[in-house]
Amino acid sequence: MKDMIGRSLTAGIINVTGYAGSETARLLRHHPAFTLAWVSGRSEAGKRLDEALPHLGPSELVIQEEPGTADVIFVALPHGAAAAVVPDLLATGARVVDLSADFRLVSAAAYREWYGLEHPRPDLLEEAVYGLCELHRAIIPTTNLIANPGCYPTAAILALAPALRAGLIEPDLLVDAKSGLSGAGRGLALAYHFSEADENCAAYAVGGHRHWPEIHQELQQYVPGQEVRLTFIPHLIPMVRGILATCYAPLCQEVDAATAADLYREAYRDEPFVAVTARPPQTKWTASTNRCLIHVTVDPRARRFIAIAALDNLIKGAAGQAIQNANLLFHLPETAGLDTLTPAYP
Ligand SMILES: NC(=O)c1ccc[n+]([C@@H]2O[C@H](COP(=O)([O-])OP(=O)(O)OC[C@H]3O[C@@H](n4cnc5c(N)ncnc54)[C@H](OP(=O)(O)O)[C@@H]3O)[C@@H](O)[C@H]2O)c1
Repeated sequence: MKDMIGRSLTAGIINVTGYAGSETARLLRHHPAFTLAWVSGRSEAGKRLDEALPHLGPSELVIQEEPGTADVIFVALPHGAAAAVVPDLLATGARVVDLSADFRLVSAAAYREWYGLEHPRPDLLEEAVYGLCELHRAIIPTTNLIANPGCYPTAAILALAPALRAGLIEPDLLVDAKSGLSGAGRGLALAYHFSEADENCAAYAVGGHRHWPEIHQELQQYVPGQEVRLTFIPHLIPMVRGILATCYAPLCQEVDAATAADLYREAYRDEPFVAVTARPPQTKWTASTNRCLIHVTVDPRARRFIAIAALDNLIKGAAGQAIQNANLLFHLPETAGLDTLTPAYP
């Protein structure tokens, strides 16, 4: 059955009150095919959505304690909590886009090592598809479970995959990335207080961030037989949203910056949400959009390749990519609901 504006597919969101869940709700309001049928949440259960999240505008939806049924369910829970509910959601026949890290790693042992949890359904790790649409588009519609990629990994993988695949660089990768505070969600910790984070810049998780195995797993497939060496250092910077990842690798061919950029333009030629920029991208150019902008150059003095990627952690790094995946799952135009987003400026 179609709703008043002709939409025929239903969507539900689990944990709508988190940042990723609320951005998913915002984007779905204008989606041409999915109607938001229900939303769930814990602390705000029983409240109307427009009372809990007034920026979304008028809505008659009431935040439920328990999930309902829908054609597609977006799960925006913390890791661990997501894996606990996803199997039951799949059993209802829904297609599930999980925004957490619970189904991103193929190996249950790696999940245990990096997340400190025993995976409750390792069998589903094989069924899940890592939903980086630009690289896995063909297989996404074949699954019922999408592991929506992390924000840092989306930037790093899109920045490095074409060069690695083309044999332009050695698999000896440095990813130096900065994130705005919303990347840490709504939860509070000392580092996220205004007085701590403002006018400040700091590296964190230097000994190993949980996105390391995800970036490593995905990039490793482009160099079978060679071990990817990856150093990934994230930084927290005083802005609300956005990721800037500057990625470096030794060149293994003599190429100039123009040739390297041409390779990337060709790799992303038909991509609606990835563009190669003539100058280094700024996070503001991607804010509130599903775009990932990449600038490619070389440092001839050091014989090093450099790719700089910018994206919005909550959109291309979370809610936007989740909807892009849902579009692919239902054979809708990949850009549906996402193509009119443009950043506010300044
Ligand atoms: N933030 C980002 O940029 C980003 C990007 C990509 C992916 N993600 C992923 O998306 C997921 C959500 O992230 P977020 O940043 O939106 O989180 P968030 O803003 O911190 O929201 C987390 C909320 O989840 C609820 N919650 C916590 N444990 C729960 C449980 N066991 N059962 C039910 N609800 C629970 C709590 O809400 P109550 O107060 O209602 O209890 C908590 O406030 C995470 O897995 C995260 O890794 C986030």
